Amino acid sequence: MQSSLPLTIDRASGVPLHLQVAEQFRAAVMDGRLQAGHRLPSTRDLARELSVSRSVTQAAYDQLHAEGWIEGRTGAGTFVTDVAPLQPAVRRSKTPQPDADPKLLTLRPGIPYIAPTPDPGWRRAWREVSTQSPPRGYDDAPGLPALRAALADHVARVRGIACGPENVLVTNGTVHGLRLLLTVTRHPGDRIAIEDPGYLNAVAAARDHRLEIVDVPVDEDGLQVAALTGEAQAVYVTPSHQYPLGGRLPVARRNELVRWARRTGSLLIEDDYDSEFRYDVAPLPALAQLDLERVVHLGTLSKTLSPALRLGWLVASEAMVDRLAAHRKSTGDWPAWPMQAALLAMLRDGYLDRAVRRSRRLYAERRTLTCEVLAPYGQVIGQDAGLHITLLLSGNTDDRHIAAAARQAGVVVAPLSEYRRTIPGPPGLVIGYATPSAPDLHRALTVLTTVLAHR
Ligand SMILES: Cc1ncc(COP(=O)(O)O)c(C=O)c1O
Repeated sequence: MQSSLPLTIDRASGVPLHLQVAEQFRAAVMDGRLQAGHRLPSTRDLARELSVSRSVTQAAYDQLHAEGWIEGRTGAGTFVTDVAPLQPAVRRSKTPQPDADPKLLTLRPGIPYIAPTPDPGWRRAWREVSTQSPPRGYDDAPGLPALRAALADHVARVRGIACGPENVLVTNGTVHGLRLLLTVTRHPGDRIAIEDPGYLNAVAAARDHRLEIVDVPVDEDGLQVAALTGEAQAVYVTPSHQYPLGGRLPVARRNELVRWARRTGSLLIEDDYDSEFRYDVAPLPALAQLDLERVVHLGTLSKTLSPALRLGWLVASEAMVDRLAAHRKSTGDWPAWPMQAALLAMLRDGYLDRAVRRSRRLYAERRTLTCEVLAPYGQVIGQDAGLHITLLLSGNTDDRHIAAAARQAGVVVAPLSEYRRTIPGPPGLVIGYATPSAPDLHRALTVLTTVLAHR
């Protein structure tokens, strides 16, 4: 049924009739079909036009009046107001995220392979969670006690860090732990040394905390400890696989770094993001193994299971953990119970160990393939560990240009220059080989080599 206003009633829709009238009225004003000052029919006339009861049109007018879309003028009738209603503040964006195009193959570093079907160990852990009631309430700011104990055993076993539950704080991943640490222990203007090139999210965290960043050079072995000066009060470092160049900090440098921190009273922040993966090389001690008073160690599930889980751990002195936990109590910012309970089940079951072993086999093959295919196009470095390699290119190459051309051809890679701040170095590409399926990795490498051959 049509009326003198652009309204139609649909009795089959199940939506109450007065709401249909009000909604269509709003839409007509928003898109200009009804102009400010337009005189409306009376509720009685509109009810007749629409073949509805007057209570329907009255309810619609009351609603529109309350919301400010219409106004009554004494003796003259009801009019569309000339005050343009506020547009909703948040509009849905139609532009897709840059990397979200499903047709693009991604070789950006940092994301593990996620099997399309979850395996029995994963399902068992979640079933176990679903049979439990949640704990009482706000008691577990540092993390579930049983999970802290299981994580202490885990890092002692796989990273050699002698610690107990009192040294462990459960986090939503590395960046969450890092930001908490900076919030609680740093003041604006404090100086923090960060590897250059280095991890962009660590740099962003330091900037957001208004810290002064001291750029420290990196070579094929990782952070150049000898370049640290006394001015830094904290150091953020990726010793197990320097991000992004891939060096593994040798024992002598680790010792030197800890000695330097003891001498200067600095805090060392060890980002241990992908230490689970190394290929044909001996393990190196975690920095935190050397001195838990000077080192805060950050671990994550983001590379072993998935970044989507948002779960990790921070290992530090008991006093530091207590300080961080006390701050958390006032923010309510700690991982949700179901996630923590699931991780506990996965650790107890040996699921995490099995998943890491399986991924290590998978990534070892992909790493070999990636190195072989790319070796003719530059110098491959950082291949002993982790989920990515870096391909150094000849000095005059514009790596951003190569990355843009690769993207045009359907493959996303990260230009090395993206990670550099002030310290110059050769151009390159940072290439993650873990994310795609095996056939997609082949395809992506073929595309990339074609782009590199035509540079
Ligand atoms: C150097 C480095 N640290 C940490 C992470 C993981 O961060 P999170 O645990 O917050 O997901 C990444 C992921 O790409 C990384 O590259």
